[in-house]
Amino acid sequence: MIIAPPIIAVDGPTASGKGTIAKALAAHFGLPHLDTGLLYRAVGRQVFLDGGDPDQSAAALAATSFPESLLHDPELRSEATGGLASRVSVHPHVRAALLERQRSFADQLGGAVLDGRDIGTVIAPHAPAKLFVTASVPARAHRRWLEMQRRGETVTLEEIEADLAARDERDRNRAAAPLRQAEGAALLDTSHLPPDAAIAAAIDLVRQQLGQG
Ligand code: C5P
Repeated sequence: MIIAPPIIAVDGPTASGKGTIAKALAAHFGLPHLDTGLLYRAVGRQVFLDGGDPDQSAAALAATSFPESLLHDPELRSEATGGLASRVSVHPHVRAALLERQRSFADQLGGAVLDGRDIGTVIAPHAPAKLFVTASVPARAHRRWLEMQRRGETVTLEEIEADLAARDERDRNRAAAPLRQAEGAALLDTSHLPPDAAIAAAIDLVRQQLGQG
């Protein structure tokens, strides 16, 4: 019997808990993990550093050759960079330029965990385990607000809700690889789940999909 490598695709909107879940799945199953949002964030940050316009395809495409060191820049985690990432990610050329890197990570021997928006639909539709992690806008906004309070950033809950709604709208309605639940993906709503319960639920779902349930 040939056993397919355990590729685990985790998709979902901003602040749904998908990053925390993907990291925990990687640790649990002993797999390498790629946060693909970081690649788009690096492109967004690079456009900014270049003084380019993130809404222009050519400027955004040029920024895909960002230096590897940029991936360690703490500024990538900021709200401002998240907003830039969501703007550069609408350009099909940008998505194409980042595709190979993500695909070869997914297809490495032994398997991998990737989280993003289009892992189960575009990057690794062949993944044997797929999750679509979601949560209500108020739940996600509240989490983001707590996170930002901890970092000392002062933003109101209303501002965060508006920003999340705008990003959701862009991610779901773009022509290239819009955010949607992949075929065969299990839905996990984390609105009312503390992190450890969400992680336990994710592990159960993945075990079932991998036939280990
Ligand atoms: O997940 P994260 O918030 O870090 O992603 C930042 C932005 O990058 C998202 O709002 C989305 O527009 C884009 N993205 C994407 N495809 C991915 C990962 C992220 O379009 N696979």
